[in-house]
Amino acid sequence: MVIDKNKYFKNINVKAKILSECALSIAKSDDNYVEWNGEFCSKWLDSKLVYSCCPGLLMVNNIAKIDHFSVFKMTPNKTYKLHVDNHRGVVINMLLEHEDSMCKFFSPTSASPGLGNPTVLHYQPNTLYLFNTQLPHMVENFAGTRYLFQTVFQEDLTTLLYPRVLAGLAKANLV
Ligand SMILES: [Fe+2]
Repeated sequence: MVIDKNKYFKNINVKAKILSECALSIAKSDDNYVEWNGEFCSKWLDSKLVYSCCPGLLMVNNIAKIDHFSVFKMTPNKTYKLHVDNHRGVVINMLLEHEDSMCKFFSPTSASPGLGNPTVLHYQPNTLYLFNTQLPHMVENFAGTRYLFQTVFQEDLTTLLYPRVLAGLAKANLV
């Protein structure tokens, strides 16, 4: 069976190398992280700085209004268990640095969620991905600290879902 990876995630054609370097350096400074239920640590980034590092995100903002940018820090030997997001319908992610981690999607129609063959998001360096948070996904971090950049939209899953943003990006030749 051919798996349509595009329904889970899609790389976005904007230059993000400078943003990646900048966000990683901020991510590695330990101050200002907020911990959520012991689950993960995140901090917001200055939006003006992000747009100046990655003007392509201004085009994304014309397609769906961006609320904020943040970085997530995930410690080693940790798992974000299989879930669908309960608030966000879609996000944009970029892996900034990791040693040995894996992000997996599973089919929502699987008889046993979390079983069967996962679709793995093999993050490429300096690359932003539209990420469908409404399909079952999980992250395992086996070693090293994992740093992730994330773009969060203003609209939540009640009005903004992955297909609409993907179609907007395609119309703007960004995917
Ligand atoms: Fe999630």
